[in-house]
Amino acid sequence: MKQMHITETVLRDAQQSLIATRMPFEDFAPVLDDMDKAGYHSIECWGGATFDSCLRYLNEDPWERLRNIKSHMKNTKLQMLLRGQNLLGYHHYSDDTVRRFVRKSIENGMDIIRIFDALNDLRNIETAVDECLKAGGHAQGCICYTLSPIHNLDMFVALGREIEKMGCNSLCIKDMAGIMSPQECFDLVTALRENISLPIYVHTHATTGLGYMTYLKAAEAGAAGIDCATSCFSGGTSQPATESLVYALTQMGFDCGVKTAALKKVNDFFLPVEQKFADSGVFDPYVLSTKADALVYQIPGGMLSNLVAQLKAQNAIDKLDAVLEETPRVRADLGYPPLVTPLSQMVGVQATVNVLFGRYKTVGKEIKNYIRGEYGKAPGTIDPALAKQVLGDEQPMTGRFADTMEPEFEKAKAYLGDRAESEEDVLSYIAFPQQAEQYFEQRAAKKPLVVQFSIKEA
Ligand code: CO
Repeated sequence: MKQMHITETVLRDAQQSLIATRMPFEDFAPVLDDMDKAGYHSIECWGGATFDSCLRYLNEDPWERLRNIKSHMKNTKLQMLLRGQNLLGYHHYSDDTVRRFVRKSIENGMDIIRIFDALNDLRNIETAVDECLKAGGHAQGCICYTLSPIHNLDMFVALGREIEKMGCNSLCIKDMAGIMSPQECFDLVTALRENISLPIYVHTHATTGLGYMTYLKAAEAGAAGIDCATSCFSGGTSQPATESLVYALTQMGFDCGVKTAALKKVNDFFLPVEQKFADSGVFDPYVLSTKADALVYQIPGGMLSNLVAQLKAQNAIDKLDAVLEETPRVRADLGYPPLVTPLSQMVGVQATVNVLFGRYKTVGKEIKNYIRGEYGKAPGTIDPALAKQVLGDEQPMTGRFADTMEPEFEKAKAYLGDRAESEEDVLSYIAFPQQAEQYFEQRAAKKPLVVQFSIKEA
């Protein structure tokens, strides 16, 4: 029987896409044992925005969350999303930080690390992949899927070959915007399988309504696995529904390895959680509607809603059409970067600024750094006039930005002193300094009471 691995995303991508990653550990702790028994290939539960959100909004130690989840997972692999050299943040970190972070992720319970670079510049995932393999983890290299005049099957297959050469255990086609059509998926999975021998995993979103069909064609083309979300946290900007895909794929002769009754139990558990977030207004049903416009504009659904919000804040919503036309032009000027964090935000802001104040009258700091080559190599050619305007006589960087960075860990450790209780604390601080310090303060404020109590007891 043909196998299809199912990765459940409710604890990471689904809640990140639908409720801005606001789910605290206690909301899902009671269902972990049942999730472990469901038969998923893996549970995506960490990385992406969860780390930042734990420290920033939930007053939780993200490492402790990982250990707690792991303690319930006797059978199921844990999976995380890592932004290569950007780890879980928005800028590059030094190699010593990347290595320690990856190693600690695995030591604290992570099994599969899905690693991507927003520009598909694979030099930016090398260090993380290398350390993941050394630490005994499963390294999954990503191709960020995007459409442009320069992105084609040849380019994606070449990336796939590099990922295989790097020693990755599997490959993921990461369609963060949900714009990959069923036929494009079929062709890409087929081409990759003809040229490399790694198992191919497909990640998409239901944003444009293509996701379910895309997964069926992924299955037909021989993909090893797909990412789904339990039904009450599925659809819209989240993943297609686990139960529905398992139902359809089983009829098509696939063994998904999961138990239907267990899937129902998991979903029954999350229904009141969904309701709680709907009642508090965090869960906005708008994110569930199908955004076919994203196919017209070729921009991610999340980016579309950001643009709308930005323009409303500027009292310039009447400029939306102009901004939507400007966005692909800015992207072309920048050599067609895939529109994924942080490039999607950068391109969106620059397009808005261009429309409101004139083309490149002001150029954002991040866009300047991008043109200097600090994010990595642009997939295509940057518009020469724009490059000249930003760089002047300066030469853009051709090496890896991380090669220019000093080691960060020892310095941060010395700075924190006894406020850091572990290497993990130091890494939290390097990743998100302000949020981590705030978390340490709150943690310390609670401490004395506990200590006094235990002294008395003794
Ligand atoms: Co995603």
